[in-house]
Amino acid sequence: MPGEISRVGVVGLGTMGAGIAQVCLQGGVEVVGREVSAELGEQAAGRIGHFLTRAVEKGRMEQAERDAAMARLRLTTDLSDLAGCDLVVEAAFEDLDVKRELFAELDRVVGADAILATNTSALSVTEIATATVRPERVVGMHFFNPAPLMALVEIARTELTADDVFEAAYAFAERVGKTPIRCHDTPGFVVNRVLIPLLNDCVRVLDEARVTPEDLDKGMKHGSGWPLGPCELLDLIGIDIHVHASEALHAALGEPRMAPPPRLVALVEAGRLGKKTGRGFFEYD
Ligand SMILES: NC(=O)c1ccc[n+]([C@@H]2O[C@H](COP(=O)([O-])OP(=O)(O)OC[C@H]3O[C@@H](n4cnc5c(N)ncnc54)[C@H](O)[C@@H]3O)[C@@H](O)[C@H]2O)c1
Repeated sequence: MPGEISRVGVVGLGTMGAGIAQVCLQGGVEVVGREVSAELGEQAAGRIGHFLTRAVEKGRMEQAERDAAMARLRLTTDLSDLAGCDLVVEAAFEDLDVKRELFAELDRVVGADAILATNTSALSVTEIATATVRPERVVGMHFFNPAPLMALVEIARTELTADDVFEAAYAFAERVGKTPIRCHDTPGFVVNRVLIPLLNDCVRVLDEARVTPEDLDKGMKHGSGWPLGPCELLDLIGIDIHVHASEALHAALGEPRMAPPPRLVALVEAGRLGKKTGRGFFEYD
């Protein structure tokens, strides 16, 4: 059985990695965050610090708690500084070669009992695991964006993952306040496998039924109890992120519904990526 997870390495402190690091820090765990440059590491720490300061200002956290959380964060650009980590969560660029190279290196660096997890959305956890000589200690931990706010973590096992590793990853996600679910390593895991084709269907209905994005969103909110309409949700996810994930699912499963509708591809080409660019289906200030 692996021991208690007290130090976590996070590889890549981009959108997801910084969020995952923050979740761990707030959960009382020491974090070694690795970025490709010191400047990017500092920027990520700045974003985490800013987020926690806002929590203090809003009365959701004590100043001392914030300071203690930030004190648990150590930054590095050197993967070998992750040597003492019990769990490493990789959240680097979504590219199989990049991830396999990182896992092969991490495999050489961390202790024999350490667990290696990937936050990939669309790549095969199995293909990442086989870059190591310990595929039984590799698991998927798929956090959702923004990680500090979204409760779900999909814990995805491969055919090679050891039962105790699968359970330890699940228990760790619970311990840091998340709501994990267990699944096997399949394209899109659970939520994206359902949500991506569903959102694509919604977009196709825009043209088929000649309904406006406003009315489609009203329809799904008031007729189906969705908390957000599909167009609003796509704007929030980022239309480029959705199209990329959609293409990956389509390549893996081949179902026509998985392919991104031309209307979404056109929005990406026009730079209308949703809320983050101020314009997608809707306009934002
Ligand atoms: N953004 C999302 O909504 C979301 C949700 C769930 C999972 N994911 C997954 O999380 C992972 C990270 O996505 P993100 O959105 O945070 O991306 P991001 O672009 O914000 O961050 C990517 C990180 O990878 C690092 N990186 C880039 N090239 C690298 C290399 N060659 N070697 C090592 N590190 C490198 C960057 O420095 C950065 O820290 C991806 O696997 C993605 O599929 C993303």
